[in-house]
Amino acid sequence: MRIIQSNSKEEAVLKIAEMIVGKIESRPSLVIGLATGRTMEPLYKAWLEIVRKGGIDQGQCRFFMLDEYLGIPSDHPSSFRTYIKEKFLKPSGLAEKQFFFPSVENSDTKAAAMAYEKSIQDVGGIDLQILGIGTNGHIGFNEPASEPNSRTRQVVLSAETIKANRSSFEGEMPTEALTMGIGTILEARELLLLATGSSKAQAIKALLNHDDDPACPATYLKRHRNFTVVLDPQAASEIKQ
Ligand code: F6R
Repeated sequence: MRIIQSNSKEEAVLKIAEMIVGKIESRPSLVIGLATGRTMEPLYKAWLEIVRKGGIDQGQCRFFMLDEYLGIPSDHPSSFRTYIKEKFLKPSGLAEKQFFFPSVENSDTKAAAMAYEKSIQDVGGIDLQILGIGTNGHIGFNEPASEPNSRTRQVVLSAETIKANRSSFEGEMPTEALTMGIGTILEARELLLLATGSSKAQAIKALLNHDDDPACPATYLKRHRNFTVVLDPQAASEIKQ
């Protein structure tokens, strides 16, 4: 695991955005796994700004969503599909066919999960997986006690995750989701995790201090040989120098 500590949130975001775009420049057909959430909002802005300024062509890239809520239509204003469409797909001007979403409206979630795994395999796997981290150490929606070899599947959200994400919903918040598994994520060729803000300090401390800890699923990512964590000072505030 490589840790990059930045002097500000803006610097952390810019650093990770530059890393992503640099990888696209050296491999235009990059397959990228996309995370959502508040942490990623400034990242998508900075990423597209660099692409615009540099005239970088992302037309051959393909993008796979890390997770999605279950129990709401995929075009719900608070779905991750809507998030990615509004914050990345539309402003990027990329084609919709470059984006892959798990089919959460399929009532057979097992079949939807298997089909999603197959669509990842069909493009040769994910080159670069972008990740955030939950306050409880979750990765995607792999909540504490998730298995390290888990695959894409239906999961029940923890009380902590529901509390953290409730403000994104006007009405009732979904309690279940479809998420890539930890095993699925570990198969990506490279992992890039961005954590900003003091609410992530405890999860980052647990990530650094523990190995293979079921209470902090992010610790399983340390098994990966190409795993980089980019932190702002607040997220890094519990790390002993
Ligand atoms: C989102 C996802 C989650 C978030 C995490 C942090 O696709 O998979 O793991 O990365 O919950 O969310 P924020 O950034 O809103 O704190």
